[in-house]
Amino acid sequence: MNPTDKPNLPDLRVSYDQGELDEHSAPADPVELFTHWINDALAHRLPEPNAFSLATNGLDGTPTVRTVLLKGIDERGFHFYTNYESRKGQEIAANARVAACFLWTDRHHQVCLKGTMSKLERADAEAYFASRPYGHQIGAWVSQQSVVISGREWLEQRDAEMKAKYPEGSVPCPPFWGGYTLLPDEMEFWQGRVSRLHDRIRYRKEGGVWVKVRLSP
Ligand SMILES: Cc1cc2nc3c(=O)[nH]c(=O)nc-3n(C[C@H](O)[C@H](O)[C@H](O)COP(=O)(O)O)c2cc1C
Repeated sequence: MNPTDKPNLPDLRVSYDQGELDEHSAPADPVELFTHWINDALAHRLPEPNAFSLATNGLDGTPTVRTVLLKGIDERGFHFYTNYESRKGQEIAANARVAACFLWTDRHHQVCLKGTMSKLERADAEAYFASRPYGHQIGAWVSQQSVVISGREWLEQRDAEMKAKYPEGSVPCPPFWGGYTLLPDEMEFWQGRVSRLHDRIRYRKEGGVWVKVRLSP
């Protein structure tokens, strides 16, 4: 195939037949089901199984979306790390309501979440930052995430400056860098089935308890 050929998208078609999901036997707690599915993605060695799309409310009213990496789950929610001054950071500061979507294509699994974002403790950011490779630590200082820059040279020059300033083993966690946690109040699990008769189970927090329903595919 020539790289400039028009891709034949209409004929791309997968039959979804990897499993099933039933509202009666699904766990009462959606986080338990999510844990089961992400462990399943890990067991099947899917690439970047912790990557998810995070949608925030753009300051001009148009939603914005990007991929981030899930770095933990606990009673506070679903954690990821970023630059607080980035576009997403500014949008979350203005409106903490967000949506997220995990896709594990090979397993025909999708999980969509809605919820409220809050910042993790500084201690969480410092502990996670300390565990990152040196290049990633320096990268956090180099990148003024989401601002327009003059070119690649700008990044490379700042990278050299930051490496000179912070030798390996001495990189502090930047004050503008840290974690967020998404506390979901809605989680929808999609299991692909044959003939497009997919299973969709939605959990919604109502009066402090998770209520499960089946949605039409
Ligand atoms: C697979 C993948 C993982 C990523 N993980 C993160 C992440 O964990 N944190 C982050 O800030 N950006 C991550 N990014 C970059 C973001 O998608 C995005 O470009 C960046 O955060 C700036 O987004 P913003 O301008 O909307 O704030 C990742 C990108 C990809 C493709």
